[in-house]
Amino acid sequence: MSIIIYAHRGASKQAPENTMAAFDLAYDQGANGIETDVQLTKDGIPVLIHDETADRTTNGTGYIKDLTYQELQSLDAGSWKSPVYSDSKIPALDELLAWNKDKDLKLNIELKNNLISYPDIEEIVCEKLQQHKMVEHTVISSFNHTSIAKLDKMKTTIDYALLTSKQMKNLIPFSKEINAKGIHIRYRLLSYRLVENATKNNLYVAVYTVNHPILIAKVLRLGCHALITDVPNLAVKLKQQT
Ligand code: G3P
Ligand code: CA
Repeated sequence: MSIIIYAHRGASKQAPENTMAAFDLAYDQGANGIETDVQLTKDGIPVLIHDETADRTTNGTGYIKDLTYQELQSLDAGSWKSPVYSDSKIPALDELLAWNKDKDLKLNIELKNNLISYPDIEEIVCEKLQQHKMVEHTVISSFNHTSIAKLDKMKTTIDYALLTSKQMKNLIPFSKEINAKGIHIRYRLLSYRLVENATKNNLYVAVYTVNHPILIAKVLRLGCHALITDVPNLAVKLKQQT
């Protein structure tokens, strides 16, 4: 199977991360999938934004958990990147799932519940995926491994994977124990041995966030299942050349 190129927060080098403009651009550039981050609003709506607060990527301030969906909709989520994107909003997860209906991209939904606890985020996201018939398209990941283990307890049919930036001795055994499909690792953890070990254990390997051509080439060469990048145009071009 050929490697899946996930656009990290959309085509986030060129367009404002986690906006529909960044997802559209990734699609136009030939990405196979979208990686995005989910937080919950005060009124329990799953929205796509990386940070726990609105401060860095919008003209607003405050924790997402303290703002309602309607309050977030009044914010400009694009101007920080370029005035061209001043009409960009923080999308709801619903919007991305509806947008993907006629596109068939893979989705990597990262639950951003490692720094903040969002009660029931697992159930809320799984229900949305079911409503939009996106179960088959999606893998859920998180740095919060208790949350990923909860998906196993929920007996969901949605794929899920542990996400890690750190060496973990028990990454593969724990992934097997909780019936995860793969491992999502930071680039500096990547090695031939890890890919071999994961493959032997029937786990796929996804690598983030890989933007430099030499590093992209290494991920392609090692036979990883997925690459997560801010520059899907470059990764797609290098993939076509291999
Ligand atoms: O899912 C891979 C990657 O997105 C995790 O790190 O901080 O970019 O969400 P971060
Ligand atoms: Ca992410």
